[in-house]
Formats: sequence, structure tokens, C-alpha cells
Amino acid sequence: MSTETSNTYHRAPSEVVTAPTGCPVEHTWSPLSSDYLADPYPIAARLRDEHPVFYSEQLGYVVVTRMDDVEQVFMNPDVFASTNVQDPIWPLAPAALEVLGASDFDPQAVMSNRPEPDHARIRVFTRQGFGNRRLKTLEDYMRRRATELLDEMIATGSPAEYVQSFAFPLPAEIVFRFLGFPAEHDAMIKSWGGNRKAFSWGQPSADEQAQIAEGMLDYWRYCRDFVAQRREQRADDFTSELLDAHEADPGPDRDPAATTGISYREVESVVYGISFAGHDPVTALLCNTLRCLLPRRDQWQALVEDPSLASNAVEETLRYESSQIAWRRVTTQPTNLGGVDLPVGTRVFLNFAAANHSPDQFSNPDTFDIHRSNANRHISFGKGIHFCLGAGLARMEARIALELLAERLPSLRLVPDQELTFFPNITFRGPNALHVEWD
Ligand code: HEM
Repeated sequence: MSTETSNTYHRAPSEVVTAPTGCPVEHTWSPLSSDYLADPYPIAARLRDEHPVFYSEQLGYVVVTRMDDVEQVFMNPDVFASTNVQDPIWPLAPAALEVLGASDFDPQAVMSNRPEPDHARIRVFTRQGFGNRRLKTLEDYMRRRATELLDEMIATGSPAEYVQSFAFPLPAEIVFRFLGFPAEHDAMIKSWGGNRKAFSWGQPSADEQAQIAEGMLDYWRYCRDFVAQRREQRADDFTSELLDAHEADPGPDRDPAATTGISYREVESVVYGISFAGHDPVTALLCNTLRCLLPRRDQWQALVEDPSLASNAVEETLRYESSQIAWRRVTTQPTNLGGVDLPVGTRVFLNFAAANHSPDQFSNPDTFDIHRSNANRHISFGKGIHFCLGAGLARMEARIALELLAERLPSLRLVPDQELTFFPNITFRGPNALHVEWD
């Protein structure tokens, strides 16, 4: 991070900008407060109803809460850039900066945080990798691994802790096989992945930051070595496809102003990015489907009797209790949003928890209903040019998990009176542990 360029993957956060003139200011709310972490929805609704667009003093961001405004931001990437989405929120401690200042820590912004036209140039190749052929291969693997994990959980007996038994291992293994990482490295890679959430979206202490930074450096070096191995010997995986694409057209490695192709460093960076993006929110989604369905016995029973309801149950979970409840942008020019003038450099916090429960979009927004006809109008995968690349994969994993659980464990329920805890961060939402039981 010491040699930052506009394409550096994680940039030190920009100066905190004060409230734009005329923008309502909220002095106390923080997405890291314990009441918001425990249940963001009533608080998000109150904030939305008081001021659809406001400045949060605790966060240093302008918060956008209405679905229409959130969509307007996503659909205008020239005005609302995504360059800040992987940056830490608050300044980093010197020790972490020193670790990340290593001369070989140089991942590039490639997908979620890369502006046009390069983002579109790179996305051509990544979109191909998520095509139907690969998803079909993954579906078979997914069903097999999900069945094996469930067999183990059932054999160990009721009650079980669902995160460690199922929801954590499954999505990580899927995305690692998709990229081609060997299974014997799963535990090591998962341990590196653990705290990226805290780094970019939480408020870790100086010591924690330094430790996370060490893990990120190790992880980046692992990705580089892995891509180098695949360069020598291809396999049937996404990394090999990206390398083929690079060799067919090395893009910026041939000409810095290239409008086609993909550079070698971009291939390495896509591997680094997707292996993080591809599992944590899915783990949370798997848990959140159960948190929503199991206490509502009539809806769980409906799913047991008709597993074809699983897809819409997943959409309704993404709306009602999303695994991603916020995302970020920064303005590149003066603009107006919801009647508030925003100067250039305004950091924008898109509050999905408020937008996904907007009463003007969803009738009875605070009711969970697997039959809701417009459940998939949620904003949990974003919208526009950066729309989540793994949405199809995440939906498939959650659907398969629900189908299997409904078939194998129809009496499944949450262990009563358990107190759920959530990792303190501004964006990702799923319980740290979820205890389930069955007859
Ligand atoms: C429930 C699970 C998931 C949720 C809620 C989620 C959510 C999101 C959101 C909100 C964005 C930003 C969209 C925008 O800026 O408009 C995003 C982007 C992205 N997601 Fe996901 N995601 C999930 C799973 C996955 C998976 C499984 C993968 C890959 C295996 C993945 C890869 C990506 C990538 C690469 C981007 C950047 C796309 C681009 O900028 O072109 N995500 N995701």
C-alpha cells in the first residue's frame, strides 16, 4: 500500500469528508453498534423514514436508504465510483501499513473496485468462467459434497452446530475447486480468509490489523505461486481458462492502453479476489435461510412438501435477512441524490437493510413470505455493471442445501433460546454459530 496507484486493490482510506452542506446529520448511529448488529432492520427503517439520505457522523459516510436512490447510485457508475469498496473504512495502524508495504504485495483492482473501461475488459473473461457448463459441473460436485457433509452431521447426531458442520466448509470448497486450488490446502486458505471482513469492513485493533495484514500477504503470495504453477500445467478450472485468455491476448502487458485482453497480474488478482468474495456471504446465506424458515413451521413444512419452493425461499431470505446489508461508493463529480447536493469525493454507504424492506417496493416488508411474488427485487447482489458475478453460484448452493435439508431432516429446528452473535462489520451478516436439532 506504500506504492499506491489508482488500481491498488486495497487503498488506505481517503480523508474523512465532513457532512455536505444541507445534508441532514445523524450523530449517534453506527452500523457497528451492538443493537444494530443484533437486529439492523427496525433501526434501518427508522433512519430511512426520518431522512432517506443523511450523513453519519460515526461513519463519515453519506447513507442512502431508499431502494430508488440505491438503484440510481448503482446505475450511474461514472458519478458513483466503486473504487472504495475493498478499502478499510478507518485509517490503518502503522504496523499493518508496513506489512502491506512489502514490495511484492501488489494485487490490482480487477472487478468490484475497478472503474471502466478496464472493468468491462476484464469482466468479459470472468463472466465466461461462470457460464452454464462450469455451473453444471459444479452443481454435481456441490450436491455430492453437500450430501457428504450432511451425512457426517447426521452421523454425529442432534444437536449440531450448522456453521462448522456445513455452512462454512461447503461454499469455501466450492469456490476453491472452481479456481482449482488443491483440496489439501483448504484449511490453510480458509484460515487466511477469516479476517478479511474485519480488515475492509470492520474496526480491528492495531494488533489485529497487523496479524490480518500478514495473512493477506501470505495469501497473495499463495495465489501468485498457484497461478505460476497453472501457467506451467493447465487443468480443467477457471484459473487455467483465465491464463488461456491471457496468452491469447495479454492486454495491458502488450500495450498499457489496451482495450482488450487481460494481463498476467490481473489474472493473479482475479484469483485473489474471487477466492475471498466467493464464500463468506454464501456461508451467511445458508445460515440465514434456516434462521428465517425454521421458526416459521408452516413455511418450513410447505418447503418439505414442495421442494420447488426452495428457489423463492432463497430470494426471500436475500430480501428479508440478507447476508450483505450494505455496500459502498464514492462520488467522482458533484451530484444530487434524493434532494441532497453531494460534492466530489463524498463517500456513500448504500444501506440494503433499509432498501430491501422499503414499503413502497414490498407489501408487508417486515413479513417473511416464501410465496412473495417479487422477492427477487431485492438489491442484495447489487445492480448494473458490477452486479454480483457469483449470484448464480450462490443461489444454486443455497437452493441445493435447502432441498437436501428438507428431504433428509424434515424435523429440523433451531435449538431454542440460543443467543446469536454477529461478526462486527458494516456489510456482511450471518451468525457466528447456529445450533440446530432434529428428531
Ligand atoms: C449470497 C452471496 C453473495 C452476495 C450477497 C453477494 C453480493 C455482492 C454484491 C452486493 C456485489 C457488488 C455489486 C455491485 O457493486 O453492484 C458483488 C459483487 C461481486 N461478487 Fe458477489 N455476492 C455473493 C456471492 C458471490 C460468489 C459466490 C462469488 C464468486 C464465486 C461472488 C463474486 C463477486 C464478484 C467477482 C463481484 C464483483 C463483480 C464486478 O464488479 O463485476 N459473489 N457481490
